[in-house]
Amino acid sequence: MTYLQNFKEMPAINTASNCVSIGLSLLAILMFSGGIFAETGERGSQDETERGRDLYQSYCQSCHGAEGVGEPPIPLGIRRLDYIVAMPLNETSHAWHHGDNNLVQTILHGNRRTKLRMPAFDSVLSEEQARDLVAYIKTFWSDRILECQGPKHMSCM
Ligand code: HEC
Repeated sequence: MTYLQNFKEMPAINTASNCVSIGLSLLAILMFSGGIFAETGERGSQDETERGRDLYQSYCQSCHGAEGVGEPPIPLGIRRLDYIVAMPLNETSHAWHHGDNNLVQTILHGNRRTKLRMPAFDSVLSEEQARDLVAYIKTFWSDRILECQGPKHMSCM
């Protein structure tokens, strides 16, 4: 069967039902990306922050350092591509360029690069605990940085 024959047999894509489903998919994409990139710029409650601090000390501080100062850089000569330094989570690095949900995703699942060293914590921590951690991480940021949290940091500073 030739490519053209195949093409002719494809159902027309501009039927009403297809338009509806395309519309729904677009809506889903918008909601999804809104969820992943949502930024809050708000501080967590005192309870969340305190729970987050305890979790941070147990699970994160060994790599990201007290108050999110990060690990010191590795000298060029002995640096390895597959060993990435844990960057600061305070305002000197770019954790604050991410919205809350994005940070939660990184904590729970790591990301493509972090598979190298940053563990995925979803077998140890709940989503609520990841949000508590984000509330604590925000205590490392000034009000000005918090105001510009997330994708808007580009135009905000
Ligand atoms: C074994 C060391 C290690 C531990 C433990 C660890 N991390 Fe990480 N983390 C890393 C490394 C390394 C990176 C950078 C990975 C990369 O860029 O690929 C990273 C990246 C991150 C990022 C992304 C920051 C950015 O600017 O994009 C966040 C957020 C983060 N870690 C939070 C946490 C939290 C919260 C915990 C504790 C639950 C934690 N990490 C525990 C090593 C660690």
